[in-house]
Amino acid sequence: MKAVIIIPTYNEKENIERTIEELVKELTKIPQGYTGHVLVVDDTSPDGTADLVQKKMKQYDNVHLLINPDKKGLGAAYIKGIKYAIEKLKADLVFEFDADGSHQPKYVPGMLAEIKNGADVVVGSRYIPGGSMPADWGIDRKLISYLGNLIARSVLLTFQYRDMTSGFRVSKTSYLAKIDLDNLLSMQFAYKLHLYYALHKLGAKIVEYPIDFIDRAKGKTKFPKNNIKDSLRVVFTLRFRESEKFIKVCLVGLIGAVIQFSFFNLLRNLWSPEYANAAAVEVAIVSNFIVNNLWTFKEQKIKKVSKLLVKFAQFNLVSLGSLLIQFLTMKAGVAIVGRSLIGENILVFIGIIIGLGWNYTMYTKLVWKK
Ligand code: GDD
Ligand code: MN
Repeated sequence: MKAVIIIPTYNEKENIERTIEELVKELTKIPQGYTGHVLVVDDTSPDGTADLVQKKMKQYDNVHLLINPDKKGLGAAYIKGIKYAIEKLKADLVFEFDADGSHQPKYVPGMLAEIKNGADVVVGSRYIPGGSMPADWGIDRKLISYLGNLIARSVLLTFQYRDMTSGFRVSKTSYLAKIDLDNLLSMQFAYKLHLYYALHKLGAKIVEYPIDFIDRAKGKTKFPKNNIKDSLRVVFTLRFRESEKFIKVCLVGLIGAVIQFSFFNLLRNLWSPEYANAAAVEVAIVSNFIVNNLWTFKEQKIKKVSKLLVKFAQFNLVSLGSLLIQFLTMKAGVAIVGRSLIGENILVFIGIIIGLGWNYTMYTKLVWKK
């Protein structure tokens, strides 16, 4: 197993040599069957960081350098590094690692041991027992980190992870290769959140490993001013993408409901209420099918006429479940509370809500299954 430790740098001339030295030393202690390399991705730092890396490359043959002509952000540097590690260095594992001394090389062997034990991703965590934040960080920076994590975990519903913004991770490239890296939502620090979520969605086994995160040795932080806004945008966009289809199915259902209520009230004095409702449901079903096909599930839109007919039959069959639910709700309801305009309309409403859960499950699992 080949592990490549990616270190993005921007003006880290005071730190980079020591970081490389310590890592190379630590890489001699990694578990059997593993080899370790270091890949620095420098955005043409004006302070000449790259020259110092080149010096180290003469000393060690497992140190590599990739130069970005311009500074496009931490995420952009990592994406370039990850692709290079996969394609050129044939890496099985890549680490994300800071140059400034905040991430201690001594954790590398232990994190690789977790991989050996079956993890797909190991995250250096400051928020599990045994991990810690820098003692000398101000309360503001600690609070930002703590709240940022809390928001990310709440919005993404990933409470099982404690530290989602850690910059110290090792991931199997077999998982990273499945992610569309060019279309991550941020090219800044917030790329980390998107990548974490993408790994989680792929079903990777993510394990947290306690680390003491220490303050940078020298130089200045590059923590972007807009990082909080950028991170919130990433987290909420991911959430919306997750629930987009459900929201659309609800909206389509709402239009269908308006149609259903109108037809029901037209028919309720002509037929018995359960039959009037069943007919109204059928009209709504036809409308829902058309709108869902053109809008909600437009990426899986059914175009061929023969297939459309088959799917419509399937859709009707599925909706028959909902129709039955609504028929019975009306029949039972009227039997209990008797006939009345308001009562019956409430029963239409209750039936729709129960039917919606059934419909959504069936649409995504059957009709517009990917
Ligand atoms: N190539 C490149 N381009 N490198 C960059 C850029 C960039 O635009 N921005 C930052 N870096 C490098 C730095 O040189 C350093 O090696 C590393 O990325 C981390 O940058 P810092 O400026 O030290 O970040 P930080 O200490 O504020 O943030 C760390 O902790 C956060 C969690 O509290 C990082 O590990 C973050 O990823 C993490 O979210
Ligand atoms: Mn730092």
